[in-house]
Amino acid sequence: MTLIIDTRTEPERALAVACETLAQGLPVAIPTETVYGLAADATNPDAISRIYEMKGRPRFNPLICHVADFDMARCYVDFDPISQKLAQAFWPGPLTLILPMKPRSGVHPLASAGLDTLGIRMPEGFSRAVIKRYGKPLAAPSANTSGKISPTSAEHVATDLGGKLALILDAGPAEIGLESTIIKVDGDEIRLLRPGGLDVADIEKLTGKTLLRPETAGAAIEAPGMLASHYAPAAAVRLNAADVKPGEALIRFGGAALPGEEKAAVVLDLSPSASLREAAANLFAYMKKADACGATTIAFGPIPSEGLGEAIIDRIERAAAPRDIPEAAT
Ligand code: TXA
Ligand code: MG
Repeated sequence: MTLIIDTRTEPERALAVACETLAQGLPVAIPTETVYGLAADATNPDAISRIYEMKGRPRFNPLICHVADFDMARCYVDFDPISQKLAQAFWPGPLTLILPMKPRSGVHPLASAGLDTLGIRMPEGFSRAVIKRYGKPLAAPSANTSGKISPTSAEHVATDLGGKLALILDAGPAEIGLESTIIKVDGDEIRLLRPGGLDVADIEKLTGKTLLRPETAGAAIEAPGMLASHYAPAAAVRLNAADVKPGEALIRFGGAALPGEEKAAVVLDLSPSASLREAAANLFAYMKKADACGATTIAFGPIPSEGLGEAIIDRIERAAAPRDIPEAAT
């Protein structure tokens, strides 16, 4: 049986039961501002193993460690000056930094997949309160079966992983709706390993540097989870549709009607008022809705590529990618 506690009505009970469950080495689904995470004690190998098992996730794909404050972060990683500046500006928030791990940090190598770097982030909201109370970092990937769309509500988590999970904390729909932006500073270069909920333009403005995008960031793809097709709905996905075929599900943006949409199985608009922030928050829930209507194809209307549009289009492209290399899905 999965226990679901609403953090808005029972915050104290949610904190107490979450900490008890984590101390038993069991994963807990926690609400973060980006997406719901499947969290476990980052220092406990049994607990981390359970995350990989529950998600069906390959063990070479490292997990992000979530911390409550800077003091906790500094116990586990070393900050270079640029990363420090980014963390100070954007934490708590949708930014993950890849940083050198301190020797004998206590984070179990299963969480970092044996790398000498650690993906680290200070989340906003109730999940941060859980980490603060628990007193140790929580390793947490998105709380979905590997290869599926990330959950932006407690219901999404319950539908996907419900039977396997002891506890889900429900804080309502995730505010941002896209996973964190992942950054790695390399000397005086800043690499964007994954576009996400923090707008790249804000990072460029703060640092005065143009980020190196995945295509130009070097030959190897550095966030192992970014290799494969994931965020995959059951339906096929068609990008940048100019029209809609009868029976397709349509997801469009900015109130822009497409020819043929009157014969669509369903028409969903990510943001009728053309707000990319609203579109990001709705994206995963709308993909699930479109999928659930049984259409064999989801057509996406054009979406602007600036700002958060870059991360939105990245996720749609991944949903549209061939599904034959699932090894590194997250
Ligand atoms: O918003 C988020 O980031 C959410 C919430 C729960 O915090 N988490 C999330 O985790 O999206 P996950 O596991 O689904 O994606 C984490 C990505 C993976 O692609 C993984 O390969 C990459 O981060 N990653 C983690 N540690 C890394 C490291 N040391 N070096 C390179 N990439 C790393
Ligand atoms: Mg994921």
